[in-house]
Amino acid sequence: MTVARRPQLTERAAEAMSARARASLLRRLRTVEAVDGAYVAIDGKRLLNFASNDYLGLSQHPALRDALIAAATRWGVGATAAHLLGGHRDEHAALEEALAHWTGRERALLFSDGWMANLGVVAALTGDGDLCVQDKLNHASLVDAARLAGCELKRYPHGDSDGARRQLASSPDAAALVASDGVFSMDGDVAPLGELARVCADQRATLMIDDAHGLGVLGEEGAGSVAEARLSQDEVPILMATLGKGLGVAGAFVAGSAALVDALLQSARTYIYTTAMPPALAAAARAAIDIARFEGWRRDRLAHLVAHFRAGAIESGFEIMDSRTPIQPLVVGASERALAIAANLEANGFYVPAIRPPTVPDGKARLRITLTALHSESDVERLLAALAKAIA
Ligand SMILES: Cc1ncc(COP(=O)(O)O)c(C=O)c1O
Repeated sequence: MTVARRPQLTERAAEAMSARARASLLRRLRTVEAVDGAYVAIDGKRLLNFASNDYLGLSQHPALRDALIAAATRWGVGATAAHLLGGHRDEHAALEEALAHWTGRERALLFSDGWMANLGVVAALTGDGDLCVQDKLNHASLVDAARLAGCELKRYPHGDSDGARRQLASSPDAAALVASDGVFSMDGDVAPLGELARVCADQRATLMIDDAHGLGVLGEEGAGSVAEARLSQDEVPILMATLGKGLGVAGAFVAGSAALVDALLQSARTYIYTTAMPPALAAAARAAIDIARFEGWRRDRLAHLVAHFRAGAIESGFEIMDSRTPIQPLVVGASERALAIAANLEANGFYVPAIRPPTVPDGKARLRITLTALHSESDVERLLAALAKAIA
């Protein structure tokens, strides 16, 4: 019998973990003990939270809680089955209708989260011999979706629609999907959506936009980055967004033509082979849409806070990125430096986690500061003052 000399997987994982620790790249799970408006409690300390994606401040809104409780009272907690096998309740149907209407698409299809939505779409539509062209800074779920789908993944420099065109032109016969974040999750900038739509039209490629960070925040009535760019369903045939950020709930959806939604319902494995989201979450998300659409003051306040932060940051000489969204990252370079600044901020009452490689490129560790409608001008000023001390 031959002696097996294969590496032990758990030992290899432990070695990788030590290497991460040596490079200041170890991830650390923190438990939040309480949430109160813009504050969180961690390790018994009350911290002003600048890490939340609840941009409109809806996750604790009484209307969402009431909708969730009423739906749970009616339906119970779990959906008990997959959508296609009795799990699809009228709460889901009503939410899909509301999302399609809001985003100006014919139909929408719910997924349990954004990861599953991206994977489901890309793997349903592309495969061996096809091409998926993506922005270099796309979210991990889009990148992994293409890898798992088995298509050829080609990436272009961040925000470079000519780069996308070149990648498409290099394989003119392959069926092609171009996928981009609408708002980039770690940089906060908006993709060149109009240009990407033109490139796709010229190259007979299909455009998919992941608007996880744009929905609720950008565009008229918060309908997102694609609505802001006034791009139709023909120009952006696949629109994906999550319900766990600007809407403060959980889950995701894909919106587009009735034909697209029908096709996904037949073949998106992450839709078919999973339990439907709890109906009470769908009810809460529907309540959130009403507030997101019609309480425009939340977006106005966000825009004001973004401008206030940027003016203060520039005055303090911070090198901020070119972002007009509530994601306002401060790149500090080395991972150790990002960790030290985050620790200093925490000691002074602020929660702003350090984001390090591989989430962001090497040498581009940063503080990912997010603003929400729950913050006040004075919260922003206090953060800027603390940053000035922490960075000095
Ligand atoms: C751009 C983007 N797409 C997709 C996702 C995944 O969404 P979800 O959290 O619903 O899985 C995220 C973040 O979580 C994201 O930032």
